[in-house]
Amino acid sequence: MILIEDIKKQIPYVLKGTSFTNLGDVYEGKVRDNYTLGDRRLIVVTDRLSAFDCIITEIPFKGQVLNQMATFWFEKTKDIIGNHMISVPDPNVIEVMEVSPMPAEMVVRAYITGSTSTSAWLNYKNGVRNFCGNVLPEGLKKDQKLDVPILTPSTKAEHGAHDESVSKEEILKRGEITEEEFDFMAKASFELFKRGTEIAAKQGIILVDTKYEFGKTKDGKIILIDEIHTPDSSRFWYADEYQARFEAGEEQKKIDKEYVRLWLVDQGFTGEGQVPNVPDEIKVEAARRYIEAYELITGTTFNAQIGDVHARVEQNLAKYI
Ligand SMILES: Nc1ncnc2c1ncn2[C@@H]1O[C@H](COP(=O)(O)OP(=O)(O)OP(=O)(O)O)[C@@H](O)[C@H]1O
Ligand SMILES: [Mg+2]
Repeated sequence: MILIEDIKKQIPYVLKGTSFTNLGDVYEGKVRDNYTLGDRRLIVVTDRLSAFDCIITEIPFKGQVLNQMATFWFEKTKDIIGNHMISVPDPNVIEVMEVSPMPAEMVVRAYITGSTSTSAWLNYKNGVRNFCGNVLPEGLKKDQKLDVPILTPSTKAEHGAHDESVSKEEILKRGEITEEEFDFMAKASFELFKRGTEIAAKQGIILVDTKYEFGKTKDGKIILIDEIHTPDSSRFWYADEYQARFEAGEEQKKIDKEYVRLWLVDQGFTGEGQVPNVPDEIKVEAARRYIEAYELITGTTFNAQIGDVHARVEQNLAKYI
């Protein structure tokens, strides 16, 4: 386990962003900077933390945690479906195959939860009993485990817009994905989810829900892209406290940005107006939790290198120029 002192030392060195000019076309997501040149893409996972669709601050080592968690899972699932990973040139960077993204995201949920207007739970609470083509039984409670995991596909919104949860039929109606392609992605998603659930369970973690993205290679093969089973694309709960909290109607103990979100809500921020200035102790505790989650889920020790992340990334990517 990392020392709090070491996390503190890293605060001035967090990776806020990059602006490399000779690595190809750049696409800046909320968290990742993507550089595309020909048939390869370099995804730089920064330390930015987003919440309520805003970039809030940077958390020491968050980029490394997320990148290494994704590469851990790509490795652990490559027998189920091929993925875009080529190499890991830096702890914060993955080199991937550039492919055409499939215009739908596959969300798998094993529990009914969430609090936003698009969440399965809020829909259910408001009377919805058919969620994206899944018929849900009466009497479910928040955070209850579903009999079997369900698939709730989502449209891929343009930069900045909100994705929409839809059924298979609605995806097919758009005419951009064939039924065969959809079924292939659906099958892979359930298998990936099963693998994720099993590996997480051994570490005392519940994989609650997650989102997969797929892309098509030049020769028409569908592969897994983007990120997999990271705290930015998935919900994780601590298994040992699940039942007691569920029965008491309490919030689950979560591995994600919930810690910072709750702090923001305490400051009166829920996405509107000025983003509050996040104090160092909140950043340090958020980092500690990310690293703890990494070590728990992967069963390996996090290798923290204190120092200028931007300089290291630049050096490690020099060979791509
Ligand atoms: N191997 C790949 N080939 C082509 N596109 C990819 C590949 N991997 C990921 N992508 C796409 O690149 C984009 C990465 O964007 P990123 O996730 O950084 O930001 P975003 O999705 O626009 O916003 P957010 O920050 O909310 O996630 C996504 O649209 C993703 O589907
Ligand atoms: Mg994204």
